[in-house]
Amino acid sequence: MRFIPRAIESTVRSAVRAFPAVVVTGPRRAGKTTLLRRLFPRASYVLLEDPDTRARARADPRGLLEEVRLPALFDEIQNAPELFAYIRTRIDERPSRVGQWLFTGSQEAPLMHGVTESMAGRAAVLHLLPLSLEETDRVGLLSGGYPEALARPKARSLWFSSYIQTYLERDVRAIISVRDLATFRRFLALVASRHGQILNRTDLAAPLGVSVPTVSEWLHVLEITGQIILAPPYFENFGKRLVKSPKIYLMDAGLACHLLGITTQAELNRSPFRGALFEGFVASEILKRQVNQGRRKEIYHFRDQQGLKVDFLFPAAKGGLWMVECKASKTVQPAMAKPLQSLRRSMAARAPVRAAVVHEKSTTGPPIRALAPGVEALDAATFVRALSGKGARQQSARIAGSA
Ligand SMILES: Nc1ncnc2c1ncn2[C@@H]1O[C@H](COP(=O)(O)OP(=O)(O)O)[C@@H](O)[C@H]1O
Ligand SMILES: [Mg+2]
Repeated sequence: MRFIPRAIESTVRSAVRAFPAVVVTGPRRAGKTTLLRRLFPRASYVLLEDPDTRARARADPRGLLEEVRLPALFDEIQNAPELFAYIRTRIDERPSRVGQWLFTGSQEAPLMHGVTESMAGRAAVLHLLPLSLEETDRVGLLSGGYPEALARPKARSLWFSSYIQTYLERDVRAIISVRDLATFRRFLALVASRHGQILNRTDLAAPLGVSVPTVSEWLHVLEITGQIILAPPYFENFGKRLVKSPKIYLMDAGLACHLLGITTQAELNRSPFRGALFEGFVASEILKRQVNQGRRKEIYHFRDQQGLKVDFLFPAAKGGLWMVECKASKTVQPAMAKPLQSLRRSMAARAPVRAAVVHEKSTTGPPIRALAPGVEALDAATFVRALSGKGARQQSARIAGSA
């Protein structure tokens, strides 16, 4: 597959102009190494997943660092976090030299810990997720966004199986000592079966015969390795009691389909998970847009005791708030706008709100944009373009005016 330019590139370029070090974290095989090697072809390259290099980094960190010509890319730095303390010393000798140290890592939290401890103010931390719809229209529910799953659709199932295997053996095992990887594998499948639901830890623990604290620990592993999305409830004091647990999704729709045994479009169309898969897909696109701009991941769901539900709320790039309802359908109806209109009313004037029903793209008939007063209908691709500030602007101004 030809190289697909990444939406995060300009953010990486600004980061290397401003900081001595740049860290790119994100799930395994999302494209971190490819991105940095392509942007910085002349940087030297140290792969810390290689056992010999890793041993060297532990035994003689100074020696290793002195040999490396700068700028340098240290790939999979989570294998040698002790290097940070030495790199910090080197940075502090010449703090004005920016863009010298590049890192990738596939675990967010342990790495971030090392970075905040040793590299505070010296490193920019960016997050790379699999490909988004903004980057290639090949991204979809069945394929997800991993470049390799997109490159060979026929070998997709095999690719996901081996991805899971490597993920368990490398990432999971590096963080926790799971005696029984088979149980963790079952846990992953169980999480997939809860895709789009309110997280219930007890409910996950029981079928596996593990404790609730173990489930919490395992969820944490999935979270710091970029495999799940937890969308907490949106809190603003509306004077109503709100549901407190997050909603859970697998980050990659393709991996979710694989774990759910959905391999063809026909199976997807009749799957009871279709709605949840579409919803999770929209959530991951929202997060991709946020992290590609160097912002933090931030997405909420809304559900109150009166039964008002809105799929997602998240901050708009230029201030204000997006409210989104997801419909795995090519047909939209004004009634679908009701929850958005109700929530909007109850939040009156607190923040400028842009509300949309996000739906599947229809190939027939003109797209409907103005669904109801103050609510747009956007197909997934148009929605993603709207997030990045491209297109759909004019229309929204008109809708806002009529609301
Ligand atoms: N932007 C891209 N366009 C096309 N293929 C890509 C792109 N980024 C990564 N790939 C492919 O995906 C695979 C995984 O990428 P890699 O950079 O090794 O991921 P990571 O370092 O995040 O584990 C590689 O086979 C690579 O060729
Ligand atoms: Mg890599």
